[in-house]
Amino acid sequence: MCGIIGYIGDRKACEVIVRGLKRLEYRGYDSAGVVTGDGSSLDIRKGAGRIDDLAKRLRFLDMKGTRGIGHTRWATHGVPNDTNAHPHTDCTGKIVLVHNGIIENFAELREELSQRGHVFRSDTDTEVIAHLIEEELKSSDDFEEAMRRALKKLKGSFALAIVYADEPDRLYFVRNESPLVLGIGNEEMFAASDVPAFLEYTNKVVFLDDGEYAVVTKDSWTVKKLDTGEPVEKGVHEISWTLDMAEKAGFPHFMLKEIYEQPRAIRDAIHGNRETIGRVAREIANYDRVIFVAMGTSYHAAIAGKYLFQKLAKKIPIVEEASEFRYEFEDLIDENTLLIAITQSGETADTLAAMKLAKRRGAKVLAIVNVVGSMATRIADLTIYTHAGPEIGVAATKTYTTQLTVLTMLAVETAAVLDTVPLERLESLRKALLSVPEFVEKVLELDGSLAELAEELKDRRDFFYIGRGIGVPTALEGALKLKEISYIHAEGLSAGELKHGPLALLEDGVPVVAIAPDGRLFDKMVSNIEESKARGAMIIGLSNRGELSKVADVFIQTPDVDELLSPIVYVVPLQLLAYHLSVLRGNDPDKPRNLAKSVTVE
Ligand code: F6R
Repeated sequence: MCGIIGYIGDRKACEVIVRGLKRLEYRGYDSAGVVTGDGSSLDIRKGAGRIDDLAKRLRFLDMKGTRGIGHTRWATHGVPNDTNAHPHTDCTGKIVLVHNGIIENFAELREELSQRGHVFRSDTDTEVIAHLIEEELKSSDDFEEAMRRALKKLKGSFALAIVYADEPDRLYFVRNESPLVLGIGNEEMFAASDVPAFLEYTNKVVFLDDGEYAVVTKDSWTVKKLDTGEPVEKGVHEISWTLDMAEKAGFPHFMLKEIYEQPRAIRDAIHGNRETIGRVAREIANYDRVIFVAMGTSYHAAIAGKYLFQKLAKKIPIVEEASEFRYEFEDLIDENTLLIAITQSGETADTLAAMKLAKRRGAKVLAIVNVVGSMATRIADLTIYTHAGPEIGVAATKTYTTQLTVLTMLAVETAAVLDTVPLERLESLRKALLSVPEFVEKVLELDGSLAELAEELKDRRDFFYIGRGIGVPTALEGALKLKEISYIHAEGLSAGELKHGPLALLEDGVPVVAIAPDGRLFDKMVSNIEESKARGAMIIGLSNRGELSKVADVFIQTPDVDELLSPIVYVVPLQLLAYHLSVLRGNDPDKPRNLAKSVTVE
């Protein structure tokens, strides 16, 4: 998992590259490197550490040249150290490249190349690519041809940026199952793993597809097929995101900014999908077998989707983690299946693999995605965008609530098509959904008291999050948020499960966060809360029913929202609580250890 940036033009390349790398740090941040140059001499600087520290230590900004590439790494093969940082080179040092992805057959290629006399310096799978091109160049004077021949030998996923010292007027960019986008400027060209990396310079982009590469000079770009070298016609898209949207806008962390953006994001998810939802709902209505696949937070959205579809459309979807689905469902999928993949990045390797499997077996695939032009949107037959805007914090927040919004709309409209619920009920849900952004604004006002609560809880070792029915995904997501950014152990579970084991872990002062919206299961929740309280647990209760304050040690009053819409509103205080706990414990909530924003490898 890594970020790539490239530049060719008249600017100082190192400045464009370092700024781009900062914006790509969410993709990985254990090491980084830059190569720049004019003419055939290249300057390579790289090392382990965060970009800011490396930029000072290695003086990235002193690097000369108006063309170059850069990389920020999240280790897969080879520990994060100076040698394994990208760029990597061939034996001559003339072929310099950076890579995002995994080369599955690198061990055998490395063995073969070593026998031919190539000397490897790093433990990475990436270095093999540079030597492979060098080897092919022995039988061809044409670099592009040699590069194509070499890349055909690779198995796995790769986005690459390549500099060849003997071709000072150009850069090469390749995409195969890892993201890469070109930025088209005026007498200057950019490329990166993601648009915000160069958005301050241009909003004109060309999305490369799998199996394509681009040859880029400062005033031209050509996209070709990797297998044949034939040119491919590509459209130039204009991106409407402003850079401002990708910056912190005055908040101390991206995560907090993104939590606060949720009312706007939910409104955009509603209004941006007015046209599409009805059409897609008619499609869903045709399928008896509906399967949700996703990972992490998106998986929790899928669980909420299941409850919504059960309740409203009277469909019982299967919900599977994509990493399980891809190996367990091969024989169970056919053309009567609708697979709904939920993925904010649209690049999660397991989710893409599940989608590809479903396509192979003839199923229809719908993707619910945030990142425009991402791989998932290319695989899917139908795409619904969540319109959350770029999410930079590693922990998903606004992308989750917009996924929930889209799923609610889909369940309501599918119910309308199937006539499974009285029209008045659907109409009241449609109306209520329009008020959800205001409800979220209301819970954001709790921020101050949640910060105080975090102060009280910051040294606790274990947390439990419980809910019932549609409250279950909120419990799971609350626990995940806490774990990933505060590093406190947390479990999310359905409250009914408590007495089947987890209750044994409750003792004096253990916080139990109870999601208890008004509804059919409110009384059941109160019983579960009493059970926990009797074991000494500290109850933090979230409800729109004031009477919960009698049993809860800390009561968080939520607005009166329809129970089916409660997941969108109730998760927000849990995001804020996790955020404050993370900051109080001295962590960086935007960049939790061991995690990266898009998990583009299995
Ligand atoms: C947690 C988080 C992850 C992602 C998961 C799937 O805050 O962000 O659990 O939800 O990696 O990512 P996408 O949605 O991009 O497929």
